[in-house]
Amino acid sequence: MKKGILNLKSNFMSLRSNVLDLRKRKREVQKGGGDKAIEKQAKMGKLTARERILALLDKNSFHEYDLFVEHSAKDFGMESKILHGDGVIIGTGTIYNKPICIFAQDFTVAGGSLGMMHARKITKIMDHALKMRVPLIGINDSGGARIQEGVNSLAGYGEIFFRNTLASGVIPQISVILGPCAGGAVYSPALTDFVFVVENISKMFITGPSVIKSVLGEEITMEELGGARVHAELTGNAHFFSTSELECFEQIKKLISYIPRNNGTKALPFPPKPPKKGKKIEDIVPGDPRIPYDVRDIIKSVTDSSEFFEIMESFAPNIVIGFGRMEGDTVGFVANQPMVLAGVLDTDSSDKAGRFIRYCDAFNIPIVTLEDLPGYLPGVDQEHAGVIRHGAKILYAYSEATVPKVTVILRKAYGGGYIAMNSRHLRADFVFAWPTAEIAVMGPEGAANIVFRKEISEAENPEEVRQEKIQEYKKKFANPYVAAAQGYIDEVIEPKETRGRILHAMKVSENKSIALPRKKHGIPPF
Ligand code: HXC
Repeated sequence: MKKGILNLKSNFMSLRSNVLDLRKRKREVQKGGGDKAIEKQAKMGKLTARERILALLDKNSFHEYDLFVEHSAKDFGMESKILHGDGVIIGTGTIYNKPICIFAQDFTVAGGSLGMMHARKITKIMDHALKMRVPLIGINDSGGARIQEGVNSLAGYGEIFFRNTLASGVIPQISVILGPCAGGAVYSPALTDFVFVVENISKMFITGPSVIKSVLGEEITMEELGGARVHAELTGNAHFFSTSELECFEQIKKLISYIPRNNGTKALPFPPKPPKKGKKIEDIVPGDPRIPYDVRDIIKSVTDSSEFFEIMESFAPNIVIGFGRMEGDTVGFVANQPMVLAGVLDTDSSDKAGRFIRYCDAFNIPIVTLEDLPGYLPGVDQEHAGVIRHGAKILYAYSEATVPKVTVILRKAYGGGYIAMNSRHLRADFVFAWPTAEIAVMGPEGAANIVFRKEISEAENPEEVRQEKIQEYKKKFANPYVAAAQGYIDEVIEPKETRGRILHAMKVSENKSIALPRKKHGIPPF
């Protein structure tokens, strides 16, 4: 009896010492690169990888894997180096109770550089995310390929890019750039769905300032070359911009609330709410088609609680994209912005809208299109920048999309713009037009100048004749009724009916089912 008790006691003691040993080991590894490196990270205004994960995920939801993984490099003195966790933390957790997989590169450990084991940890969590069909979030803060590990680092990146591509359109992939993301490393974020950047912290470029200086003799700072603003405003590589890491995490959480966890399901509905009482929808659009207005006010007048989560706000602002909810369900909005370049389509706005349409289509999110544009942007710059192939992307994306698609023509719908903005001909399910809609090959002024050129130039009073012809053309075409007579639009509606008609259209389309021709995949314009 006494012996039994002694055995139990010694078992307990041994387990206890093992547990204490485990805790000690964990504490050691969790220190990452150590106090000095952590201090340096803080001085740069950056959280550590672990702090980032804990700030982003639901409290107590994070579970870490591969904590004890070590690097296997042997060259350049690496054999004696200890790199805790090999510079990356991986695990699972929840955001608003929705499961996610996550990795965060730890800059305090060898600059978050990517060696073979570091890459293996990332690919392990990517495989997990794809298998479990849950979103993947990657926090990038790294000096790129670990120079001492040579081709093994390059192989690691290749394995990541392959998985990014495999997972594309199956699970949401979110990249958060919270430090350097240099060289080929930038191609993983570029292959994912949404890229988040933070002012003064994010830096993304293929070749850094020193290489640019030595090869081209050009001097530029890291911030000017690949800082957050550059990617949010100029290059279009970033979808969300914020001024602090914590603000960035709030944006990520919001995004997660709008999107489904994979392509086999829909976004979880929220409790339905009416739009806020504000400016009446019929008072937003000026009667004079030359006067601009903010199309986001129209979106907010139809969404629940008048909320709109805009994506790529500062890039190609002549088109507006983002998510809202209608009767609790997520809807993707694509809208021309008359406040910027009269809402024309150009290379950047076509890229921006085309990709968003494909995202919504891949993840079962219905699309509402609000149209008011004079067409594609003319000019040598645009032609030489490839507006033909860029502009084709939006046509391709709408034509290919099989989710419910509703269009509301608010004002101008001219030329290629009329066709491109989810027209009946690209298989919109419902097309509504306000009585202010003008659907024609081009604007009345341009049309009159071309069609009646001879009559105008030969007239005694050319300007008077020109104005007459403009009025004649306006009367004939600058309205929605010619298109309505052809059945190209389904109904001319009053502005105040807009939310109700969209909601009804969505309800009717709930079980929409159409089959596209069988193919391996299409070849979208690039
Ligand atoms: C190994 C690296 C590293 C790397 C940084 N470190 N980058 N170690 N391989 N790629 C280490 C540093 O030696 C240092 O180690 C620690 O990380 C912190 O780096 P610092 O230079 O002290 O930090 P900082 O001054 O903040 O500068 C950060 C940096 C700089 C701008 C990222 O480190 C840098 O320029 N790194 C190299 C970037 C690069 O050229 N990467 C390769 C890109 S090519 P100690 O021990 O001193 O703390 C590439 C190819 C991929 O990625 C291709 C895929 C297709």
